[in-house]
Order: sequence, then C-alpha cells, then structure tokens
Amino acid sequence: MSNKTVIITGANSGIGKSAAVKFASAGHNVILACRDVERSKKAYREVTDVSKNKNVELMQLDVSSFQSIRNFCTEFKSKYDVLDVLINNAAFFEHGKKEYQMSPDGIELTFATNTFGPYLLSELLKDVLTKSDDARILNACTENIMHFFDPKRKIELDNLRGEFRDTKQYSVYKNYGDSKMALLMLTFKMAEEYKSLGIKVNAIIIPGVKITKETLKKMSPGYRLIAMIKQPFSLPPEKLADCYYLICTSDEFVNITGQAVNKHNQVMPAAKHDKGFSKTKELLSFNYIPKYAYDKETTEKIWDMAVIFSLNIR
Ligand SMILES: NC(=O)c1ccc[n+]([C@@H]2O[C@H](COP(=O)([O-])OP(=O)(O)OC[C@H]3O[C@@H](n4cnc5c(N)ncnc54)[C@H](OP(=O)(O)O)[C@@H]3O)[C@@H](O)[C@H]2O)c1
Repeated sequence: MSNKTVIITGANSGIGKSAAVKFASAGHNVILACRDVERSKKAYREVTDVSKNKNVELMQLDVSSFQSIRNFCTEFKSKYDVLDVLINNAAFFEHGKKEYQMSPDGIELTFATNTFGPYLLSELLKDVLTKSDDARILNACTENIMHFFDPKRKIELDNLRGEFRDTKQYSVYKNYGDSKMALLMLTFKMAEEYKSLGIKVNAIIIPGVKITKETLKKMSPGYRLIAMIKQPFSLPPEKLADCYYLICTSDEFVNITGQAVNKHNQVMPAAKHDKGFSKTKELLSFNYIPKYAYDKETTEKIWDMAVIFSLNIR
C-alpha cells in the first residue's frame, strides 16, 4: 500500500489520537488537526515517538469556526497537493451543559462543531481529495442516534442561530444526538454529491468508548458519573482506531460509499419495521439505522443550511 496523506480532526485525544498512532505507524503522512496547538504538542510527541514516523504534522484547526477551517485548508493546500483520507473525528460533547453556547460564527456550538464544520472542511478539501486515486472521508457518528427509533424524535433545526436561546430548554446531550444524526444525513448526501468526483464518504456509528480524564472533566457531575460507571464496559479507543483504519484504507471498503458502519466493520442496513417486537429487536441489536436517517426533506434542509451558513458567514 502506498503512503497516504491523512487528516484527522481532534487527534490530540481519545480515538483521534489512537487513529493518528495507527496511521502513522503504518507509514502514512498524518496531519493532526487540533484546535489548541500548544496543548496538542504532547499528543504529537506521543504519535511520533510510538510510530517512529517523521511525516506527522500538527496543524491548528478549530472545526467550530468557519474562518479557522478556511485558514487550515489554505495552509494545507500550500503544503500538500493531494489528500487521500479525511477523518471528521472531532466533536463537542460537554454533556449536561444547559447554557446555550454559540460558535464564533453565531451558530449553536454542538451543530457548528459536529455538523457544519465537517461539511465545510469536506467541501473545501474536495479539490485535493479529487486528486487522490482512492479518496475517502469518514465521519464519526454515535450510537446515540438510536434515540431516533422513537418516531417523535426529530432534529430541532429552529434554534441553531439562538432564535429561542432564552425561552426554549437547551441540552448539549440532546443537541449532540441531533447534530450527529444531521452528520449522518450529510454523509449520505455527500456520498451522492461526491460520487462523480471519486470521493467515498461513510460514517462510523461509535458505541461507548473509554473517555479521557480531560473529556470527563468537561461534562456535568451527573453525566460524568454515568460515564465513569460505563467506563469498564466501554471499548478502548484503539479498537475504534482499527475501525477507522480499515474503513479508510482497506480493499474491503474501496468501493463502499454512503454507508454507516458499525464497530464490527459491518455496513448497517436501514431499519425495516415501524412497530412491535420486530422494531424493538432492531433497536436493541444496535445494528440498524433508524428510518429517520433517510428522510429526504430533513436531509435537504440540513444540506441547504450548511451551504447557506458557510457561504454567508465569512
Ligand atoms: N467516547 C465515546 O463513548 C464516543 C461514543 C460515540 C461517539 N464518539 C465520537 O467519537 C469521536 C471521538 O471522541 P473521543 O471519545 O475520542 O473523545 P475525545 O477524547 O474527547 O476527543 C474529542 C476530540 O475533539 C476535539 N475537539 C472538540 N471540539 C473541537 C473543535 N472545535 N475543533 C477541533 N477539535 C475539537 C477535542 O479537542 P480538545 O482536546 O481541544 O477538546 C478532542 O481532541 C467524536 O466524534 C465522538 O462524538 C465517542
């Protein structure tokens, strides 16, 4: 396998850092795209020490900021002609936080980081991805989307510019699920849009993975306690790094696009049943994607919002 150039967002911690070690150890050129370069130097040293690979670079990227994404892409293109793999791994999940937070562009922070940032980053890197003969994008989603088996659960899109910030109940946990479902919908749409460019786009549906102390500290005490109780039953980040690697490099996935993939590296089918025992079975198997993910109207609405936000906010 020839060396690939790989960008991993949020590569200073957790799954992103493990994935950086995995790709770098296999000899690929890895760009750790992290929002705090100073704080990420420790992770950078760890990746280079473990992998013994000199072709590892640390670059500044705040995926919640359109300006930062633009700056990152300009800098990347000034150094590299081709990009083979983009992993949209970074995410905002300060579960338990109740105060409405906005991105530098005035967009609700969870959506800015987990949905619209990955959209703009992928869009702006399309030209360099097109130059690869095997370009792949992987979006990190979550099993939290199983909440959408509930037919009443819909993505709330009417409060993303702070419209109801003082009147509507706000929860980062709820927005996390919504923003990741929106990312999954964008994955399906991007796969269609980028097909003629030869860029494959998939999502990985991530289950509970061990969380670092730093990330636990960002959660409210209640969510921290729940996360700590779950830790012993959670997967090590290295297991998901292996999944990232397989989906982004293997022959098995070379022609797969527009799919959600589980922790066993299996493509997950759409749920088939609307009610009864069959529906419960599908939900509890964690192996089916809720039907809502394929809702065309919502997908188009999110795509349009992503286009308009990223075009109009400069
Ligand atoms: N752990 C789980 O149980 C679990 C379950 C389902 C899905 N996932 C998904 O897996 C992915 C990796 O999560 P993880 O478990 O490895 O958590 P993590 O260790 O907290 O990693 C998240 C990374 O995202 C970065 N990040 C957050 N906001 C950013 C921004 N605006 N710009 C750039 N980077 C930003 C963080 O950087 P800082 O250090 O600067 O904050 C951190 O490096 C995420 O997409 C998450 O949603 C995780």
